[in-house]
Amino acid sequence: MAKGGREHFGSRSAAVMAMAGSAIGLGNIWRFPYMVGQNGGAAFIIIYLLAAFFLSLPILLSESIIGRATHANTFGAMEKLSPGTRWKWLGILTVVSPLIILSYYSVVGGWSIEYLLKASGSGFGDDISTLFGEFIVQPWAPLICHTLFLLLTAGVVSAGVKSGIERFNRISLPVLFVLIVIIMIYALTLPGSGEGVRYMLKPDFSKITPSVVASAMGQSFFSLSLGVGTILTYSSYMKREENLFRSGVGTAVFDLLFALIAGFAIMPAVFAAGIQPGAGPGLIFETLPYIFAKMGVAAPWLSRGVSILFFLTIVIAALTSSISMCEVGVAYVVEERGMSRGKATVLIFGATWLLGALCSLSFGPLSGVKILGKTIFDFCDTLTSDYLMTFGSLLFVLFVGWKMKRETVWNEFTNGGSLRGSVRVFRAVYFLIRYVAPLVILTIFVTNLLA
Ligand code: PHE
Repeated sequence: MAKGGREHFGSRSAAVMAMAGSAIGLGNIWRFPYMVGQNGGAAFIIIYLLAAFFLSLPILLSESIIGRATHANTFGAMEKLSPGTRWKWLGILTVVSPLIILSYYSVVGGWSIEYLLKASGSGFGDDISTLFGEFIVQPWAPLICHTLFLLLTAGVVSAGVKSGIERFNRISLPVLFVLIVIIMIYALTLPGSGEGVRYMLKPDFSKITPSVVASAMGQSFFSLSLGVGTILTYSSYMKREENLFRSGVGTAVFDLLFALIAGFAIMPAVFAAGIQPGAGPGLIFETLPYIFAKMGVAAPWLSRGVSILFFLTIVIAALTSSISMCEVGVAYVVEERGMSRGKATVLIFGATWLLGALCSLSFGPLSGVKILGKTIFDFCDTLTSDYLMTFGSLLFVLFVGWKMKRETVWNEFTNGGSLRGSVRVFRAVYFLIRYVAPLVILTIFVTNLLA
């Protein structure tokens, strides 16, 4: 343990793996492939790449700078850098928003567990088209799965930064890549898969409208876990000598690579089965079991094996993300409320379990309860991904760009001038943080508000 009882990640690769674990999740698997195909293929990928490196990376680095400079949780970080000011609200916001995400995210994580069990057990049955719809409206089964998923998350977090989070990600990340590559190879060898590859790649610049650009940026925020303090918290466990720029680039590259491979794993399979691609839960929980069943007629064992691997991938990818959200809250409670890690985890588990239970029930018994016209699940999703993440990101870049002293930012980013590469890119990065990012985020924010 480091000074003050605070833990650190063992190495840069450990920090990158944890951050990439947070980034790689449901967002890469259920939204990215579909968005690419719908919004202009290769043309969209280019926009997404630009968004990832010129907008999201500066936001990620801003969070990293705050986290590593203070070695504190999101609330404590604000108090350290700007004591007694209203910036503490940014600290509070970023404790609350990841916990809201965790609540509904773990409901979906729970569904994945159920499907993994189904895939490895009795299979998906004959009535695949109604399976998902009938499952999520039940009161108990989804609730039990949600509880199980959250227990796994809390179990890893309670074990600590090094023996829990670091160890879990160190094993999971390579496993995730191996699994998704196996699934991709399987999908690409299916007859008729070429159509799916074309769907992902065919550049169509006429599809690129301002709202497509805005949604590419929104997707990039979600995918990189920005604006909700997860990157800040993980970076706060990085040692002084680590290179923030390299770690940030590493995280962005892994996340992008995984999203692309997932696209080439899922879309070819979708087209090989001769169905229309969709996005969201439907893609994972309705379309894919159908595909596995269809393929199963020709090669039952292979198809069953791949379906098990596929749902295993989803469960692990979702866990590495949910762990990062949980850690934000736990770090806050431990450091600001003086609770032990074990107790803090129980507290965060309880709070997110409750909200998550409401989200889960909002598909069934509570489907009549509406907040601003949305079910509880949809409300939590829209509130966080359309507003809180963007708002948090905006405040983080404004804080680093305008509130922190340039010298402090420079010192943190370049490790006191000792990192030559970082010294070289500093001016460009600082410019992006100060001017480009705030203006672009503000535009996205207004677009979401008007939509
Ligand atoms: N990046 C994760 C995904 O793609 C989601 C996430 C959002 C994780 C916010 C942490 C914080 O699924």
